[in-house]
Amino acid sequence: MKFTQVAGVASLLVGATLAKEIPQDVERSKRLFANGLRHEQIMSKKHAIWDRQRAAGLMTAAYPELGFTACKDGIAAAVPGDKNNTFKCNNLDLYHFLPHTALGSKTGEGSSSWGWVAPSGREFVAIAQADGAAFVEITKEGKMVYLGRLPQHHEAKPIIWRELRAYRHYILIGSEAEKHYIQVFDMRKLQSIDPQKPVVFDTKKDITSLFRDLPIGRTHNVVVDEKNKYAVSVGAAPRSDKCKAGLIFIDLTDIKNPTSPGCASQDGYVHDAQCLPYKGPDTRYKGRNICYGYNEDTLTIYDVTDRTNATIISRTSYEGASYTHQGWVLDKSWQDYLIMDDEYDEYDGAGLAADGRPVTYIWDIKDLKNPKQTGHYKANHKGIDHNQYIVDGYVYQSNYGSGLHVLDITSIPKDPSGAGVHEVAFFDIYPEDDDKPDGGVLEFVGSWSSYAMLPSGFILINTIERGAFIVKLQTKSTKARGTRLGW
Ligand SMILES: *[C@@H]1O[C@H](CO)[C@@H](O)[C@H](O)[C@H]1NC(C)=O
Ligand SMILES: *[C@@H]1O[C@H](CO)[C@@H](O)[C@H](O)[C@H]1NC(C)=O
Repeated sequence: MKFTQVAGVASLLVGATLAKEIPQDVERSKRLFANGLRHEQIMSKKHAIWDRQRAAGLMTAAYPELGFTACKDGIAAAVPGDKNNTFKCNNLDLYHFLPHTALGSKTGEGSSSWGWVAPSGREFVAIAQADGAAFVEITKEGKMVYLGRLPQHHEAKPIIWRELRAYRHYILIGSEAEKHYIQVFDMRKLQSIDPQKPVVFDTKKDITSLFRDLPIGRTHNVVVDEKNKYAVSVGAAPRSDKCKAGLIFIDLTDIKNPTSPGCASQDGYVHDAQCLPYKGPDTRYKGRNICYGYNEDTLTIYDVTDRTNATIISRTSYEGASYTHQGWVLDKSWQDYLIMDDEYDEYDGAGLAADGRPVTYIWDIKDLKNPKQTGHYKANHKGIDHNQYIVDGYVYQSNYGSGLHVLDITSIPKDPSGAGVHEVAFFDIYPEDDDKPDGGVLEFVGSWSSYAMLPSGFILINTIERGAFIVKLQTKSTKARGTRLGW
């Protein structure tokens, strides 16, 4: 406890001098990032831990199905007396858990997740696994009903990295496997499935289309600007390709025949991005299409209105940059701030993350040419941060071994130092590291992603080893509702 307090004070003190935007260090960038060295280091660390887990049988172990378990006195004891099924938590109840094996997977190994709400209000989610995407309906009671799956594209091998995003009633599925390409699947097919007879869809006949125009068929992620009817493949290796694994645009106007009008290679590899119709204070870009790129050592902002000739507006690094990973704007309808994580600063003990506790970086993007890092939020546990999405004033962060953490970020526009950001809930899906000093490990284990955008309030947490959890907030501050931070 003492240590916690001292560390808290220390981070406040250094907070004044660190967490600041700086120009990209061109030499360091060449040495460490542009050539893919840092990226390979991280991927090999991930392979090492996942190989160990696979060898120990943890990816396909018979984790038991778990039913509703209230979070009480800081724990959700889903199997009373079993530490392996007792989860530390606050303000989030467990509704359901199903292991990957019960979700039709032979390999396990969960990654991304996304959802679609049918016009009838029925809620469906896609749960990425190494060998495909599992489809599930979430009932009014918060139970997952397994409906079937779309296996990985038949020319590709299973691999843990599978990212997916919804575009209208379609789901776009990319993978780091060579020759996987991007599958386009129509989620409306799920509405007529009898859950007694889950359907394994055919990777040739049952898809709407397959976007093939990737250098070797792999992509790190795929993101979507629904309004402007395009998707973007990011991190499509190799870096030696003409697009340099940057932004590869995919026109979705004719969904049966997606084509690429061009790419943005100017800042090389893009790890993740958010692409939006621009709405915000920078009047120079009113009505333009903007992509916020998370580019390993920089936040790189692109004007992508002309997808045949996208341009860079700014490219900005920051103190402690170790692997700029992913982020989200606070408000899509007024893009004045965004938050971001760095996936390697905790591991590297860099900058604000020297103590191995996750750092959420706050950026003022009111001037798209000169983004400013105004502050940060520091987590109170050890671990690595990963994907995060903002819904209605809260950010939902999948922080690997420490699970899902929910922060109230409504204070940021008033106080961009981050001092007012506070945690309102968490659910730690990885009890395996709870006894470790500082309550966690700096390893790529546990939760990869969450999906908290369903109107019912049920939140899906996809985990690497175990499977999918459904949780729900016990209380939500009324302050967070109805603010301009909503969707
Ligand atoms: C947790 O449960 C799984 C599945 O039963 C098992 O394989 C694993 O060894 C358990 N882990 C611990 C730390 O007990
Ligand atoms: C591409 O965009 C740049 C910057 O807006 C502009 O100067 C250039 O003329 C454009 N090139 C083409 C071929 O449109």
